[in-house]
Amino acid sequence: MSGHYSSENIGYGTPGHAPSTAPAQQPDQFAFDEASETEIARLLARYPEGRQASAVIPLLYLVQRQMGRQTGSAWVPRVAMDVVAARLGMPPIRVYEVATFYLMFNTRPIGRYHLQVCTTTPCWLRGSDEIVAACRAATGIKGWEENSADGLFTMTEVECLGACANAPILQVNDDFHEDLDGSRTKALLDALRRGEVPKPGSSIGRMCSAPIGGRTTLLGDETASTAPDAPHTA
Ligand code: FES
Repeated sequence: MSGHYSSENIGYGTPGHAPSTAPAQQPDQFAFDEASETEIARLLARYPEGRQASAVIPLLYLVQRQMGRQTGSAWVPRVAMDVVAARLGMPPIRVYEVATFYLMFNTRPIGRYHLQVCTTTPCWLRGSDEIVAACRAATGIKGWEENSADGLFTMTEVECLGACANAPILQVNDDFHEDLDGSRTKALLDALRRGEVPKPGSSIGRMCSAPIGGRTTLLGDETASTAPDAPHTA
């Protein structure tokens, strides 16, 4: 699933896999805004002089977040990779390599809501097909790594998100929505379409990864099990 870089595919491809925007979609310029600059100063202070290149991933995230704030589409344009390279004193090719390797970086414009559907075995066994179908029905998106006609949504198939205990999982932008089924997925997407911010986490209200049917252990008298031993007397 990891992306790859070659000199041929810079500028073309799919979200998170390779710099993937046709040249016409690429902006001519990018500059960090005040909020990003404040964060950059904080990040760079973590690294010793001469080691600022270590901040390449956080800076690419800042680019993506700033683009989301400014345009509603959280992605990393090619020109912004060049700005990051200049800021960190790295050859641009090294920034391209990082941005195109990690799926978390979107290298072409995406919808306001990035629907990342986990279809790996645990989520699949727990109904990810239903999640996929509900996303397709609600957005009109037919394939993967495609944007909806209204520009609101992008659908990406992802590997295990590390939350299998609460499968199936749909990640929307940075939030995990867990324990979903088809109807709850539809309700979630309807809420997003209305501009609401649905609460992340379990959609059935379970606490963290607690068993769905409630506790199965430590069911006795808690006060008895936690009471300190009586002090010994001579
Ligand atoms: S398989 Fe979906 S979170 Fe692990």
